[in-house]
Amino acid sequence: MNEIPITKVFFDEAEFTEIQKPLQSGWVVQGPYVKQFEDMFAEYTQCQYAKAVSNCTTALHLGLLALGIGIGDKVVVPSFTYVASANAVEYTGAEVVFCDIDLKTFNLDVHQLERLLATDKSIKAIMPVNLFGLCAALAQIKLLALNYNVRIIEDSACGFDAWLHGQHSGTFGEIGCFSFHPRKPITTGEGGMLITNDKNIYETVKQLCDHGASKSDLQRHQEKGGSLLPDFTKRGYNYRMTDFQGALGVCQIRKADIIMSKRRNIAHQYNEALKNILCLQLPIQPEGFIHGYQSYVCLFTLDPENLTLDKIDAANVKRNHLMAILEENGVATRQGTHAVHTLSYYAQRYNLKHEDLICAYAADRLSISLPLYPQMTHGEFEYVIDKLHEAIQCVV
Ligand SMILES: Cc1ncc(COP(=O)(O)O)c(C=O)c1O
Repeated sequence: MNEIPITKVFFDEAEFTEIQKPLQSGWVVQGPYVKQFEDMFAEYTQCQYAKAVSNCTTALHLGLLALGIGIGDKVVVPSFTYVASANAVEYTGAEVVFCDIDLKTFNLDVHQLERLLATDKSIKAIMPVNLFGLCAALAQIKLLALNYNVRIIEDSACGFDAWLHGQHSGTFGEIGCFSFHPRKPITTGEGGMLITNDKNIYETVKQLCDHGASKSDLQRHQEKGGSLLPDFTKRGYNYRMTDFQGALGVCQIRKADIIMSKRRNIAHQYNEALKNILCLQLPIQPEGFIHGYQSYVCLFTLDPENLTLDKIDAANVKRNHLMAILEENGVATRQGTHAVHTLSYYAQRYNLKHEDLICAYAADRLSISLPLYPQMTHGEFEYVIDKLHEAIQCVV
């Protein structure tokens, strides 16, 4: 058996053909393909406006700026997320308030969120993260946001095709941001998308993404008088997506249904094959939620109800041993993501200890993400399951 990677991109002739067209036409910067991708993404997510950008981190940065977040403000971010969520807040000059997670879903703990909102009036926004393809408790979070008059910007980097009560992730608050990094279900290499139903936010983000220009290059190129530069009414950034990335995005979203049904099928097979392994808590899909399975992440734990620092650290040694055995057998795994409050920069900046957000810490030390990609064969799947069973025998 060849090595089984954590993921694989799902490209075929469509991408190989389409990506050549911008190269042949010579229009390689943000142009017609980016526009087409934006339109298709808006339709897919049932949202009014979509703006493609260079990655999800820049989408989050622009989204926060468009909400008016800056120095003196605070934004709640779950600690168990990729560092980019917190970094985007800090780019604006605002401070991060870390919130713990619910270990069953890996998403924001709404009870702690409410306590934070009730005690800290400088909180201006919440950034729920729809981690691994499962929406956070967005209906409850939306109610809290209304009660406490704060804005919502969803970090839906992993939330493509994740739904809650028939509504796509990223559409519950003012803004949703997506990533097209190759670890995500649809990819453009690097790439991101911001969606919103607010025209003002859309116009602001469109302009900030393009240096603050009041007209895009393509617009200028297509009009008379394009020899003169337009006015720049804002201090912007160059966070544009290129048109060959746009071409990839168009191809990927065209076959999203196939990609997603294959991914879900494998996730369901994992659910079935692993259901009797007591030391693995499997991903759940609560009533009303549709999981996008950006990753299939389990929690390795012998006693999930009684997590203390010592117990987590002891189980962490076993989790790491388990992953090392799988690696020796050619099966790639990863920890789900990290607890950002434990990373040196954030621990020092906000003076945080591991145990301050104990569930995020447990998820960091005990999560394990299994290989998942649409073209995974039955043989590969069986091999992963066999090796996982063997490895578990060795460590528990
Ligand atoms: C939860 C989360 N937020 C943000 C990002 C950043 O996305 P990008 O790499 O597109 O900037 C990632 C990327 O993995 C992520 O997982």
